[in-house]
Amino acid sequence: MLPTLLMIATLSAPPERDAHSHANPEQVRVTHADLDLTVEFEKKQLNGTATLTIERVGKNDGPLILDTNGLTIAATEISDDGKTFAPATFKLGEHDPILGKALSIPLNAATKFVRVTYTTGPKSNALQWLSPLQTAGKKAPYLFTQSQAIDARSWVPIQDTPGVRFTYAARVRTPKDLRAVMSAGNDPAQARTGDYRFEMKQPIPAYLLALAVGDIEFRKLGPRTGVYGEPSVVGKAALEFAELEEMVRACEKLYGPYRWERYDVLVMPPSFPFGGMENPRLTFASPTVLAGDKSLVSLLAHELAHSWSGNLVTNATWRDFWLNEGFTVYLERRIMEEVYGKARAEAEAVLGKRSLERELAELPKDDQILHINLSGRQPVDGLTDVPYEKGALFLKHLEAVYGRAKLDAFLKKYFDHFAFKSITTAEFKLFLHEHLLKGDEAKAKAANIEEWLHSPGLPKDAPNPSAGDLTKAEATANDFASGKLPVAQLPVKGWTPQQWLHFLNTLPNDLKPNMLAVLDERFHLTLTGNSELLFQWLLLSIRHGYAPAMERLEGFLTEQGRRKFLKPLYEELMKSKEGRERAMKIYRKARPGYHPISIDTIDTIVGWKE
Ligand code: BES
Ligand code: ZN
Repeated sequence: MLPTLLMIATLSAPPERDAHSHANPEQVRVTHADLDLTVEFEKKQLNGTATLTIERVGKNDGPLILDTNGLTIAATEISDDGKTFAPATFKLGEHDPILGKALSIPLNAATKFVRVTYTTGPKSNALQWLSPLQTAGKKAPYLFTQSQAIDARSWVPIQDTPGVRFTYAARVRTPKDLRAVMSAGNDPAQARTGDYRFEMKQPIPAYLLALAVGDIEFRKLGPRTGVYGEPSVVGKAALEFAELEEMVRACEKLYGPYRWERYDVLVMPPSFPFGGMENPRLTFASPTVLAGDKSLVSLLAHELAHSWSGNLVTNATWRDFWLNEGFTVYLERRIMEEVYGKARAEAEAVLGKRSLERELAELPKDDQILHINLSGRQPVDGLTDVPYEKGALFLKHLEAVYGRAKLDAFLKKYFDHFAFKSITTAEFKLFLHEHLLKGDEAKAKAANIEEWLHSPGLPKDAPNPSAGDLTKAEATANDFASGKLPVAQLPVKGWTPQQWLHFLNTLPNDLKPNMLAVLDERFHLTLTGNSELLFQWLLLSIRHGYAPAMERLEGFLTEQGRRKFLKPLYEELMKSKEGRERAMKIYRKARPGYHPISIDTIDTIVGWKE
């Protein structure tokens, strides 16, 4: 008996405190949230109630501690049965610039429900209120939320830690002519009534709470897939995302059933600060992925993959973010391989590794570690290529050591075992030892887990993805840059967008003055409709002072608000005097249209003072 017991003891890792939450889930846990919210566009405010079902953990009489940020709390009530509520006292703690305020509500021994009546503040980080002119259609206002990483607390008083999961229901009241959708069950056939009800039966962490309200229409794609968006984009999106159902099937074949019923995508207004956000059942996607030729759909593969890595098995704290993103990039490439072929997946892996290597050259050592220390910092400080691309390379490395069949079987088991749970890196390691490493010392040594998870940089055994057509693009770029190949002889016929990206990526920062002009004359890069290519081109243009692209730069920086594009472009501009002036001129105009998350980032880069 004893050995088994001992084994079980060593098999459970201690729970880790989430440095980014005030909540006390080790004492009291929220298991369900019932929201009743009114969306007030004139006031730019949500108001209503959150009724939380709670569960005591062990014997204690502690209060319920929730996270809030910028919320005005009107009242708190408690109830034993969910029917009769009695007023309760509450205490709002000191404001922490990163965490916001703790809301503490004392409970009785029999309390099972807590109701908070509240309104959101004018500067809720999760909310972006768009005037009609800021939308694609220009006719109706639009509201959307972005909760990841720790902004759910700025629109719902909740235990805002990924270690706590709860189911939810919501009633959302909006102007009559608008539609509301959530990260929950959405009914595409629902008429516009201004009164919408939602249910999310699977338990999710707070960062996956999501709501969008606007002139939103639906197009069916497959039996359980479809796309939502403003009328003017939804048709284009349906063409671009034609393979969505096939992607879901591909991931199911590899890693087990899709457990969220429907999978739909909402194409967001252009100011959406991310490329994509894996809100369960309803991915939010930036319109910048609509290239017209499906060349950027790996983003959908990525957000879909989160339905396994991230939404099903979730990082318990933001230190463990690589468990979400690294696994997801690995799965994303496997889906791409299934649906679009090996060449495409490998090419994207090469681009990913290149981008990682460039970032590693600049990042402080501590930020190069998968199991990063983020206490005292914003979780978005960890938003680099490290959790994504180093994390994916780690799994690719395990694939190289153990073979695909074994790794896939392991991953499937991992998703089953931890389905609807939140885990730490330590828990992952224990499971890895037990189900992959155990029994073969030599291989376990080759797996080199400690260095991968806890050391900066890339281990020597890191995989080296290679793609023949990208190698050609790289050689072409070098020959062009050195003057060996004139523009008329560039062998670009039939090049994929990935080859073009790699070509631009490879060009050095000291090209001769007319070389960008020559390229642009022949290939019209300033006019490309592919946002990733345009982004690379504009970076090169700023670096080389290529004036003819500056108008498009201004257009790009004002017409979309994706942080990943904005940040490097503004940083590049800030490197010269002329650039700084241009940055300020553009930012003054663009800032009112950006999302609070992007504003936060760019304010710091340009030294904005209100
Ligand atoms: N979950 C992330 C977005 C995110 C991470 C938002 C952390 C806030 C905090 C999403 O899945 C993501 O990674 N999006 C990427 C695209 C992806 C293809 C790499 C993005 O938005 O660029
Ligand atoms: Zn992701």
